[in-house]
Order: sequence, then structure tokens, then C-alpha cells
Amino acid sequence: MALGDEWWREAVIYQIYPRSFADANGDGVGDLPGALTRIDDLADLGVDAIWFSPFMRSPQRDAGYDVADYRDIDPLFGTLVDFDAFLAAAHERGIRVIVDLVPNHSSVAHAWFQEALAAGPGSAARERYLFLDGRGSDGELPPNNWESEFGGSAWERITEPDGSAGQWYLHLFDSSQPDFNWRNPEVRAEFLDILRFWLDRGVDGFRVDVAHGLIKKEEMGDHQKPSNSGPMGSRDDLSPYRGQPEVHDIFREWHQVMAEYEGDRVLCAEAWLSTADKTALWVRRDEMHQAFNFGYLMTGWDPQALRDVITESLRAYPAVGAPATWVLSNHDVIRHATRLMLPPDQDDGIGPRSPRIPEHETGLHRARAATMLMLALPGSAYLYQGEELGLPEVVDIPDEARQDPTFARTQGRRYGRDGCRVPIPWTAGAPSAGFSETGETWLPQPEGWDVHARDVERADPGSTLNLYRRLLRERRARRLGRSVLVWIDDVGEDVLAFHNHDITVVVNFGEQPFPLPSGQVIAASGPLADAHLPTDTAVWIDSGGVPIGPETGGVPIVPSDIDDLVEKYGG
Ligand code: NOJ
Repeated sequence: MALGDEWWREAVIYQIYPRSFADANGDGVGDLPGALTRIDDLADLGVDAIWFSPFMRSPQRDAGYDVADYRDIDPLFGTLVDFDAFLAAAHERGIRVIVDLVPNHSSVAHAWFQEALAAGPGSAARERYLFLDGRGSDGELPPNNWESEFGGSAWERITEPDGSAGQWYLHLFDSSQPDFNWRNPEVRAEFLDILRFWLDRGVDGFRVDVAHGLIKKEEMGDHQKPSNSGPMGSRDDLSPYRGQPEVHDIFREWHQVMAEYEGDRVLCAEAWLSTADKTALWVRRDEMHQAFNFGYLMTGWDPQALRDVITESLRAYPAVGAPATWVLSNHDVIRHATRLMLPPDQDDGIGPRSPRIPEHETGLHRARAATMLMLALPGSAYLYQGEELGLPEVVDIPDEARQDPTFARTQGRRYGRDGCRVPIPWTAGAPSAGFSETGETWLPQPEGWDVHARDVERADPGSTLNLYRRLLRERRARRLGRSVLVWIDDVGEDVLAFHNHDITVVVNFGEQPFPLPSGQVIAASGPLADAHLPTDTAVWIDSGGVPIGPETGGVPIVPSDIDDLVEKYGG
């Protein structure tokens, strides 16, 4: 059964990274027909919606985040007909579909960029991107000191049509991804049209790539702190290209377009900003509907830090009438079954030469507890394909097989994100564990990938897959996403405990077993011994059908004052 009004307020949204999900044509890269063959598995898992990472036409220099044509599907993934078939099949099953929109930059192969190269300095075609003259006597130095998120300078010099060394263009990511000039009205109009193109096809919304970066400070001078700190530079509050106030107008315009369509649709911002308070201003009633909670994702396995970020999120987002969101894994970060065993801030990825490679069994134990905590929180939650199988980060990818531009741009100093992008296992014993009939895979699968295969896990009552299925069923039936969290105090420093609606959630981070509260156990992330919760284990307990919240004397978190937020962060 599909969720009702404003479904996105409580939805569990499953990210398909298409190239690694399921391959129907045997070329080793996943595709839309492959995804269609697996849609019943997602219905069986119990997700409310799917977010597809990009499948538009692209030279694939950054795995599709370099778009050459926003209105077509790359032949690698299929055709628009394949997309329509997938969308119809998802809708038949009550599953919504949101697509990835990449508005900060295009591919160098985009017709507009090619036009800009040919048209020369000062032309209207160059105005759609961020071309500047270089510094130095001959323009031989980049216009400023900005750095690419993937390493090296954020500027690339071009050769002008007459053969001379020419202007520079900005690329906050790879040099194959030139940034658009979002102060240019043609760019703005073009994207309104692209939104309508996909809305007309019936999509349920958009995940908006690099939403924090569309507008750059007008004067484009040197950055006082050029190096990017935190994942996607998220700790960098001084940034001249992060969270500039003019972005709000763009999102208001988009909100209007979404509202022209009947039904509830969602805009979700990929916004790497430093706090929930700041991010909340992007999801006011007339802007985006959701923003990823990267503060939550980047918090380590630490009860007090988790309590703080959850409280901060439940103060900030409800202040503007938006749901909080939660996420533990995606295609840009180390899978949480591995990451939660490491200190936070692992934005370089891990590989064979990394100082510490966590052991999977312990990591999985912790990851299951972390998932139980996340899925009990009010708001909407994002899952990344394969986490329901408990997949670890793949560490032993040979250097020559690595594809993330980060690896090449930093001469291998940063491993990058390939380890979380390895094609996922479906069927034990089949070629490439059922990903592709030919056994081809665009990134190598590790030895023993079959033990995590979906068919093996589906048949095992204690598997991670069956834990996710159970949690999603209970979460939906009890409407935990729409309810209110009430912290339980006096449980000690190593334990987090809270009520949400009619369940009590307890997570033990400490060495000492913690006594279970009374009530029937709905689910536990690991074995429970003698009515105690062991270390790194979480439990959901039925509080006897009594909702605990404001009505029954529970003290919910008080939302922040929206005027204070606006005064502090403006826009
Ligand atoms: C964020 C995406 O999630 C990431 O995969 C991509 O490389 C950058 N944006 C650039 O588009």
C-alpha cells in the first residue's frame, strides 16, 4: 500500500545506482531493463520510493554526473521507453520514482559547452558557463585559487578557436564537468524546462545534485581557505561557492513548477552545509521539500554525538515545517558496515594501503544496530542499494581498475568512492553473483561476494535483508516516520533510548550489557542474552500499544525559532 498525502514526509527512499544494480544486456554495466527485472525484490523489501542516480546521456567521466543531454537516457542504460516501462511498473506497485538532476555543471560534451568553446570570449554562449581570463602576464595562471572537490585546481585552460592559449573555465568537480553560470537567465529557463520534461513523464520528484553550489560569489576572488575540508567541502563555511543566499530564489522557482503538477512531488537537496540549522532554510515551505542530513551521516558511532545531531535535526527541520531526513550510506561514502568502525571523516575512501581495514563481522553487527536506530526516527530515510544485504566497502580493488576521477586527480593519494559502487550480488553461484549473465562487471567484485547474495539472505531468517524487511514493515504500519521522538534520560552515557509513537528503542554502545525494558521485542539487531542488550546492539520494543508523546506526558523536542534561523543565516 502506498503512503498518502505528502508521502515524502515519512518515506523510505531506496537509491538505485544504476550501473551497479542489475545488468540485463550483459555488458557489465547495470541498466534500466535490468532494474525492471528486480523491481519485485524492492517491493518485497518494502520501500516507498526509488531514487535513481543519473542515467541521462553522458560520457560517464564521473559515472553519469557529467550530463551531455538532460532529456535522454544514455544508451548504456537503455532508452526513454525503458524508463517509462520502469516508472509504470513501479507505480503499479505503489512505489514512487525520483530522478537525479545535475544542475551545477554539465559534461564538456554538452552542446552548450561545445558551442561556448567555438564561440570565443565575450560571446553569449560563454556566458552560460563560468569562463574567465587567467592571471599572470599572459593569462597563464588560473583566475583564482579555488580547488576541485576531486583534487587539483578548479580551473582548466582552453585553446581558443584560433589556436591560441585561451580563457579558463570553472569546474568544481572533474575538468570534464564545467560549472554553469546560474546568474544567466538562459540557464535558469533551461532547467525549468528540463524539470517539466521529466515531470511530464510522471516522475515523483528530483534529487538535486550539488544544490549548495549553484551560485558562486559574484566577484570570484581568491578563497581565504581554498582547501576543501570535510566531504564535498562541507565544513567550509567561508566558501564562495557554497550556500550563497541567491540559491533560495532558484528553488522557489522550482517549487512553483512542481506545484503546477497534480499530486505530491518532492525536491530533495544534496546540500553539504555545516549544520542542520543552515540546511533547514533550504526546505522552507516554498523551497525544497527535503535535504539530505549529511551531519547525521558523518557522525561516528558515538551515543552523545548521535543524540546531539538527532536533537539538532528535530529542532531545525520542523521549525520550517519540513521533515528531518536520515541517511547512513550512499554512492559517495564508505558503506556504513565498514565506516562505523573507523573514525568519522573518511572522505578519502579506503583501499589496500589504508592503515586500518575493519573486520566485517563486527562492522556488520554495528551497522545493523545503526540501521535500527535510523529507521526508528521520525522523518524520511534514505537507503543505498546493497546496505540491506549488509555489504561492506570493497577494499581490494586494484589501482588499475579504479574509476573514480578522485583517484586519478590525486595520483592515488585518495582512493575515492569505487569501494561502495561495486555491482551488488543477487544469486549465489551465478556468474558475477547474478549481477550480469555474462559475468562481466565494470568494477571487480571481491572473492566471496556470494555470501551476501539476496537469494541466500532471503532464505535466512536472521539475515540483514530479513531484518530490513521486518523494520520497514513495522515502521510503515506504525507510522513511525510521522510520529514524535521523546528521549528517555537516565540510561547512562553509553546508551541511547527513546520512544517513538508506540515503540521504545534502546541502543547499547557500551561494553556492559544493558537491561531490556519490559514489553514485547519487535526486532533486535543481534542476539539478546538474559534479558540484556549486549554491546553494539539495538532493540525495538512494543510499549503495549500506548503512544508515548505529548498527549501522554512525554516531552518532545522543541523546534527552533524560524525567525532566529533566518536572522542568523539570511537568504
Ligand atoms: C555529488 C554526487 O553525489 C557525486 O557522486 C558527484 O561526483 C558530484 N556531486 C558531482 O556531480
